[in-house]
Amino acid sequence: MSSSTDKASAKPRPTIKAVRGTRDLLPDQTPLWNHVESTARAVFSRYGFGEIRTPIFEDTSLFSRSVGEETDIVSKEMFTWEDRARAASEKAQSLTLRPENTAGVVRSYIENKLGETGALQKLYYIGPQFRRERPQRGRYRQFWQIGAEVIGPPSSGSESPLRDAELLEMLAAFLTELRITNWSLQLNSVGSSEDRARYNAALREALAPIKDKLTPDNQRRAETNPLRVLDSKDEADQALIAALPKIANFLAPDSRAHFEAVLAALDACAVPYTINPRLVRGLDYYTRTTFEFTVPSGDASGLGTQNAILGGGRYDGLSEMLGGPRAPGIGFAIGEDRLILTLQAQTSAASTKKLDAYIAPLSPAQNPAALALARDLRAAGLSVEVGDGTFKLRKSFDIADSLARHIILLGEDEVASNILTVKTFATGEQVKISRDEAASQLKA
Ligand code: HAM
Repeated sequence: MSSSTDKASAKPRPTIKAVRGTRDLLPDQTPLWNHVESTARAVFSRYGFGEIRTPIFEDTSLFSRSVGEETDIVSKEMFTWEDRARAASEKAQSLTLRPENTAGVVRSYIENKLGETGALQKLYYIGPQFRRERPQRGRYRQFWQIGAEVIGPPSSGSESPLRDAELLEMLAAFLTELRITNWSLQLNSVGSSEDRARYNAALREALAPIKDKLTPDNQRRAETNPLRVLDSKDEADQALIAALPKIANFLAPDSRAHFEAVLAALDACAVPYTINPRLVRGLDYYTRTTFEFTVPSGDASGLGTQNAILGGGRYDGLSEMLGGPRAPGIGFAIGEDRLILTLQAQTSAASTKKLDAYIAPLSPAQNPAALALARDLRAAGLSVEVGDGTFKLRKSFDIADSLARHIILLGEDEVASNILTVKTFATGEQVKISRDEAASQLKA
């Protein structure tokens, strides 16, 4: 080997970091994630939901046709690539990492002919989504959603305002079960597609004379999709936006009656809400009910400015937009990352669960016996960690105290006699236990 190669190989290699906007969830964080997910599964199943898992990438046109070409998500945030054909039997295809999961669920509903069962489908999902947004606290490029969709042929009752109210009441129950208390439900109706067309025309008319005073982004939206101006967060435009016509004045009687029936059912269930006429949401498929649950922004919520912990709404025409049968639906997606930040800010750090026992072999000669004992205790259902016989006793005690409720000392005598020396950290008590009885005595 030449000396120059030696030098090159001695140079430390640059490390590889997680991609911007993505992150690792380490074992001290995942218990809270698992707690949130198992609570969601338990609550949703009480309301008759079953789990659906759709692919993480889909044909790009699925999102452009449903979420909408002019939305921020489709126009600038998707991770899209051209997938080359690798065999004569394949075709080249534009693929996209899913930025949300409603489109995938409705595609699956159509493809698997779930409507033909005639039954109302109540589906939930938990999984990562991908948007190329500017990363900040509570906003990531890979983030997790816990979502649910209720969809079916009109004859299954999928259009009923009862479904909207039930979904919102379920969300209130879920947040209460997680002990998130300071949420606010922001609610609106964006009407049927006909109502929206009339409202869009009125917005266009109202925007025309003031367009030049808007920021460039909103000028573009005023042309292409005026509704999107309403969810603009641009400070400079807020006063002008506040003076624009309100969707509530453009609802046809049946849309208004639907919204009022949702409100009446929420009142009956004592679910508090605030009507927010500007809540049109950043995706094009919504009709009638739209909603967001927010928590106060700022440090106390753990979220900074990203204070919408979940959003959703009705999408009565989405199935048809994707070439499917008529299948009204409503759903939501919870931003799990944001929910966790809120939980962390509201509750003192969840106490980490300790292992049942830490086995400390007193010399390397006891390592095999220590591993065999660990195997037997684990097989009996205990959680166990094993040390190494080269450790000093002091170190074994320190590690054991941080990890486990008990330390089991395993020296030559213990191995020979099958009588173990066990110390319980909570009481400081040290006792002898027969190896055969260890599992039953050490269980919590
Ligand atoms: P969305 O409002 O785009 O709706 O997203 C729902 C929630 O996902 C947001 O309220 C937020 O908590 C979270 N979220 C969105 N983007 C990010 C991000 N970059 N980082 C962290 N969290 C994020 C939808 O996705 C619809 N599919 C909801 C729905 C279901 N509508 C009907 N059914």
